[in-house]
Amino acid sequence: MDLSRAVDALLDLSVVGGYGRPGLALRRRLADWPADPPRMDGKVVAITGASAGIGRAAAVGFARLGASVHLVGRDQGRTEAAAAAVREQVPGAAVQVDLCDVSTLASLKAFTASWTGPLDVLVNNAGVMVAERELTDDGVERTFATNVLGPFWLVRELADRMTPGSRVITVSSGGMYGQRLDDDLLSEKYAAVAAYARTKRAEVVLTEMWAVRHPTIVFHAMHPGWADTPGIQGSLSTFAKVAGPILRSAEQGADTIVWLGGAPEAGEVSGLFWHDRRPRPTHLLGLNKEAAGARRALWELCEELASRG
Ligand SMILES: NC(=O)c1ccc[n+]([C@@H]2O[C@H](COP(=O)([O-])OP(=O)(O)OC[C@H]3O[C@@H](n4cnc5c(N)ncnc54)[C@H](OP(=O)(O)O)[C@@H]3O)[C@@H](O)[C@H]2O)c1
Repeated sequence: MDLSRAVDALLDLSVVGGYGRPGLALRRRLADWPADPPRMDGKVVAITGASAGIGRAAAVGFARLGASVHLVGRDQGRTEAAAAAVREQVPGAAVQVDLCDVSTLASLKAFTASWTGPLDVLVNNAGVMVAERELTDDGVERTFATNVLGPFWLVRELADRMTPGSRVITVSSGGMYGQRLDDDLLSEKYAAVAAYARTKRAEVVLTEMWAVRHPTIVFHAMHPGWADTPGIQGSLSTFAKVAGPILRSAEQGADTIVWLGGAPEAGEVSGLFWHDRRPRPTHLLGLNKEAAGARRALWELCEELASRG
C-alpha cells in the first residue's frame, strides 16, 4: 500500500480523524486525491431533501458544474428559499422546485407520475432521525418510510426511465457500521439512533441489490462524514456541540455526492459504498453482517409496503 492509501485508511480507522473536517482537508492534500468532476451541462439532477443541509449544498455543487437541478422538498416555502439561495450562489443556475414528501406513498406517487423529462442523476438525500417512534399516514414507521421506502419507491418508478449510465446516489451514514440488517426493520423496539442506523445500513444493502437488478444504471451509497446541518443540530445536539470544532460544512459533506454524480471513474462501478471519493468497506472488522435471508426480507418488505401506494 502506498503512503497516500495508508494515510487514507488510517483516517478511516480513526473515525474522529476521518469523518470530521480535518480528515477531508488531509485527504485533499494526498497525491492521489481524485480529480474534480467535469462540467455537467445538459445533465438533469434531482435531489431529495434539498431544502436544507447537505441536499441544498449538493444542489449548489451540481449547479456550479452546469447541471440542471431539481430541488425536491416537502415544504414549498423552504424549498423555494433553498432554490433562491442556489441562484444567488450560482448566478444563471438552472434550478427548479418539485414538491415531494418522500415519507408518504401518495406524495411519492404524484411526484413520479409527474416526472416526464430525462433524469441523469437521482440523489436520495432526504433523511430523518425521529426521536420517538411514530407512523406515517401509510402506517409505516417514519424513519424507515423516509430513509428506505422513499428511495425504494423512487428507484422502482424511475429506474426504467433512466438512460444507461444514469446514476443513483443514496446518502447513508457511517453510523450504519454499528447496525446489522436484522428482522426489526420497522423498529418495533424503538431506539432513535439504532433505528436510524439500521435504515442507513438498509440503504447500503438496497444499493447493492439495485446494482444487480438494474445493470445499466450506476448506483452508489455514500456517507458524508459529520457535517454541521440543521439535521445534526436538531437530532444530535449534544454531539453537534462536542464535535462542533471539527464538523464539516454542509458543502464539504456534499463533496462526494457531487463527485459521484459527475466523475467519469464513478460511472465505471456500481453498488459500492463511498466516503471522501473512495469506495469503503461495508463492514468494519467483519462485524454486523446480516443473517441469511435478511436482504430478501428487506426487499419483500419494501415491495409489500410500496404496493399500498
Ligand atoms: N449531517 C451529517 O453529519 C450527516 C451524517 C451522516 C449522514 N447524513 C445524512 O445526510 C442526509 C442529509 O442530512 P442533513 O444533515 O443535511 O439533514 P437536514 O439538515 O435535516 O436536512 C434534511 C433534508 O431532508 C428533508 N426531508 C426530511 N424529511 C423529508 C421528507 N419526508 N420528504 C422530503 N424531504 C424531507 C428536509 O426537509 P425540511 O426542510 O422540510 O425539513 C431537509 O431538506 C441524510 O440522509 C442524513 O441521514 C448526515
